[in-house]
Amino acid sequence: MKRRRLGKRIDLLIKGIISRKHTEQQIHAGGDGKSRSILSLSLQDTKTLTPELIDVTCDQLKTSLLAGHDTTSTMLAYCFYELSHTPRVLDAVRDELNRLLGTEEDPEVVRSRLVSPDGPNLINRMSYISAVIKETLRLHPPAATARYSKPGACFTVRAPAGEDHCLDGVIIYNCETLIHRDRAVYGDTANDFVPERWLSDGSDSSRNAPMDKPDINSRTIPVSAWRPFERGPRSCIGQEFANIEARVIIAVVARRYDFTKVGLGELATDKEGRPVLQENGQYKTKSHLYNTRQVTSKPVDGMKPSACSEQGGMDTGWETARSNSASRGLLSGALPRNQQTYRE
Ligand code: HEM
Repeated sequence: MKRRRLGKRIDLLIKGIISRKHTEQQIHAGGDGKSRSILSLSLQDTKTLTPELIDVTCDQLKTSLLAGHDTTSTMLAYCFYELSHTPRVLDAVRDELNRLLGTEEDPEVVRSRLVSPDGPNLINRMSYISAVIKETLRLHPPAATARYSKPGACFTVRAPAGEDHCLDGVIIYNCETLIHRDRAVYGDTANDFVPERWLSDGSDSSRNAPMDKPDINSRTIPVSAWRPFERGPRSCIGQEFANIEARVIIAVVARRYDFTKVGLGELATDKEGRPVLQENGQYKTKSHLYNTRQVTSKPVDGMKPSACSEQGGMDTGWETARSNSASRGLLSGALPRNQQTYRE
């Protein structure tokens, strides 16, 4: 009941915005500086806004907002989480950004390079960062999917032992988390964060990959074994958008700030207070950060960025600190505790 009331309020709010935007566009039709927002584009060339059109546009906006916001933010949170305790990967990300964008890491400078005519080309060349995003989505897929086979459709699947099962009338849930951690595909490193596996030419994989791990790379991984956006005609329409968004955000943030998880998944330290590097190239953690399912799958503590509190204590989530060259050196040794703290 509460949910329905809330749904109605959201609909009302969004429909008001649609009507206002439509009026605005009619007044400024043909004017310069047209907005490229999803709403503006969907109202483009619409002379009369009928109640049906308002309903459809409202549904489309809700889908884009709900399907696109939660998933992308979870992906980014996990991306920074993995970077924060995999020093060789963070170094490689920063190296790639230095190579492509120059060593100036001021967000304004990075932004202006990315929106320049050369921007799309630079974004396309972020191959290591793409591998980081791909590996983050492999280990922490924010979404999954379900399919329903209608009775009488005669949809059968063959089990590994060879017997056929008719799944008519059954809802089938594709659990991406299980699929993405299949040892038969991903080998001994199935549970480890190894972006190098996605570098198809393998050239970078030897440089930073754990030495004793098998050389698994994208050439040996069947395409259907990676499906965070699902596959086929109903797969995610926002996957390219999410990917570009993530690359841009990583480019702006990864060299500028160091992220330190607090609470669940916090780094374990040795007697001298230094993080403990494990054989798999990742720092040891005190506890395991796990997900909860709230429509999408997200970290149980929300992993919200949080600055140090006035008393010096911290909420669960992140401690975000301005990165500097000194801290970068420290990342593979001690935690960058002595830095200026970034506050929202
Ligand atoms: C990391 C980010 C994202 C992930 C992991 C993700 C994942 C998914 C998955 C698993 C599906 C179900 C596909 C299926 O059932 O076959 C889906 C559908 C969808 N996604 Fe995404 N998504 C992401 C970002 C976005 C963004 C940014 C948008 C829009 C701006 C978006 C819009 C949609 C829409 C509209 C559908 C429904 C497609 C259909 O039913 O035909 N998603 N997404």
